[in-house]
Amino acid sequence: MSTERILIIGSNGQIGLELAENLRISYGSENVICSDVRRMEHQIEPFETLDILDQTNLLAIVKKYQITQVYLLAALLSATAEKNPKFAWDLNMNGLFHVLDLAKEGLIKKIYWPSSIAVFGPTTPRVLTPQYTVMEPNTIYGISKQAGERYCEYYNQKYGVDVRSIRYPGLIGWKSAPGGGTTDYAVHIYHEALKSKTYDCFLNAETALPMMYMPDAIRATIELMEAPSDKVKIRSSYNLGGISFNPEDIAASIRKHIPEFTITYNPDFRQAIADSWPQSINDDEARKDWGWKPEFDLDGMTKVMLDNLSKQLKSQ
Ligand code: NAD
Ligand code: SER
Repeated sequence: MSTERILIIGSNGQIGLELAENLRISYGSENVICSDVRRMEHQIEPFETLDILDQTNLLAIVKKYQITQVYLLAALLSATAEKNPKFAWDLNMNGLFHVLDLAKEGLIKKIYWPSSIAVFGPTTPRVLTPQYTVMEPNTIYGISKQAGERYCEYYNQKYGVDVRSIRYPGLIGWKSAPGGGTTDYAVHIYHEALKSKTYDCFLNAETALPMMYMPDAIRATIELMEAPSDKVKIRSSYNLGGISFNPEDIAASIRKHIPEFTITYNPDFRQAIADSWPQSINDDEARKDWGWKPEFDLDGMTKVMLDNLSKQLKSQ
C-alpha cells in the first residue's frame, strides 16, 4: 500500500488530467487528491475546489488529507500571460511560494513544479540549447518561470526542500485540450486535420520549436519524482528534449495519413514569443542524472494522435 498522499493543484488542465490518471494507477485512486479552481462536469474524485492563491484553504486541504507530495500545475501559460502580465506574475509566483513554504515548514515532503523552455530568450543559443547558458526571457511567462527556478533552487539549498522540476517543451496529447500556450497549434492542427482537412496556423512555416508527446512528458515527470534524492542534482529545473519540428514538418507528417490536408499561415502575437524560444534542447543532464530517454518521434506521435482523435470524433 502506498504511504504517499499526493495533491495535484491545477488537475483539470492539459497535463493534470493525464498526470492524475497515471498517478492513480501507481499510487491508488484514494491517494491522489485532485484540485483545481474549477470543478469539471465529470469530475474525478477525490477532488477539492482550490484557488492556489488561497493559502488558508491550501493548508486546510494538506492537513485534511495528510498530503506528502504536491504537484503544482496551476499557472497562466505564455499566450494568456502576455494578455494579463500582472495577474500572471501573481499566480505563477505566489502559487509557488505557497507550496514551497509548506515544505519549508515540514508539512509536505516533496514538490513537483514545472518550468518551461520559455526560461530561455532571444540571446540564448537556439539549437540544442544547453542546460547552462544565457537566459534572458522576454515574456512575462518566461520571466516568472526563470524566477520560479531560482526560488526552487534557493529553497532546496537554504531549507533542504525536496523540489524537482522539468523545463517542459510544448506538450501534445489527445486526451485534453491545451490551456493558452504558444505551442498549442501542434495540438489544434490534428483536430482540424480530421474535422476540416485544413488548418490556419498562428505561427509561420519555419518556426521550429521543441515539443513532446504527452505520455513521454508524464513518464519523465514520474521518473524524476521517483528518482533517489541524490540522483536529482539540479534543483532549478532540468532541460528535457523530445521532438523538434516546425509547422511544415507536422503538416507533412499528417499528409502521410490524410494526403489532401492543407495548411495556411497567419502569424499573430504568438510568433514573437515563439521566435524568442529555442528550436531544440540538449538534455544530457537529465539523461545522465536520472536516466531520461524519450520514446516518441514526430511520425510515431502523429499516428497515435490521429488514431485516437478519430476514434474520439466517431464516438461523439
Ligand atoms: P493548463 O492551463 O491546461 O492547466 C492549468 C490548470 O490550472 C487549469 O485546469 C486551471 O483551471 C487551473 N488553475 C488556474 N488558476 C488556478 C488557481 N488560481 N488555483 C488552482 N488552479 C488553477 O496548463 P497545463 O498545460 O496543464 O500546464 C501545467 C503547468 O505546466 C504550468 O505550470 C505550465 O506553465 C507548465 N508547462 C506546460 C506546458 C505545455 O505545453 N502544456 C509546457 C511547459 C510548461
Ligand atoms: N507550451 C507552453 C506554452 O506555449 C510552453 O511553456 O506556453
